[in-house]
Amino acid sequence: MTAPLVIAIDGPAAAGKGTLARRLAAAFDLPHLDTGLLYRAVGRRVLDQGADPRDAMVAEAAARALTEEDLARPDLRGPVADAAASAVAAIPAVRNALVSFQRRFAAEKGAVLDGRDIGTVIFPDAPVKLFVTASAEERARRRLLELRAKGIAADPDQVLAEIRDRDAQDENRPVAPLRPAPDAVLIDTTDLDAEAAFARAHAVVAERLAALAGRS
Ligand code: CDP
Ligand code: CDP
Repeated sequence: MTAPLVIAIDGPAAAGKGTLARRLAAAFDLPHLDTGLLYRAVGRRVLDQGADPRDAMVAEAAARALTEEDLARPDLRGPVADAAASAVAAIPAVRNALVSFQRRFAAEKGAVLDGRDIGTVIFPDAPVKLFVTASAEERARRRLLELRAKGIAADPDQVLAEIRDRDAQDENRPVAPLRPAPDAVLIDTTDLDAEAAFARAHAVVAERLAALAGRS
């Protein structure tokens, strides 16, 4: 029996991972998990307790107590939630507590998962791995547009600084740092709109599946 298909998508903030993951999931009829939500929900729980998101004991307990309802909270986005997610995500015990949920999610039907360490740590044997990136300036521009669409006024320089801080934190942490898996296909979306990025990713996945089918 062949293992269910896992498509791993990693990359920095606002690179277009989620948009691509949703569209690939629809195209290949797979469930989708935005794994950033897990870290965001843990960060929120810690903030609710008035604790510091860098507090390993509180954050690990929050990760172990995570529920489906936590993932549906409306307050998981925005600069405070972004920073709290990145802080709890640097704690090894938090990451360990979330591994089995992510693996179980894909166990039955396969899945598209997007995050920072899907191709490197969670599913190192995934048959399809994409690393989606874009320049920091373009990613900040996208984030700014999203904030404006929600009616939130934001300073462009500050949005760019926050994106750069989070990149640095995610790339330089000792555990599961953000980096492409050696066998990931890189997609730079700086000059690609969501449609063009999807077309490229779809071609990569289709090619990979054809190669795998030819081998079996
Ligand atoms: O949507 P955006 O790319 O801004 O962020 P996200 O994917 O929701 O992730 C929020 C934070 O969670 C990231 O900055 C990472 O620190 C952390 N994260 C992680 O460490 N590993 C993952 N698989 C997913 C997210
Ligand atoms: O999941 P991640 O944080 O990597 O990014 P996203 O939420 O998929 O995309 C961030 C924003 O950029 C969304 O508003 C997308 O519509 C937009 N986007 C874009 O302008 N061009 C792309 N190629 C991909 C996304």
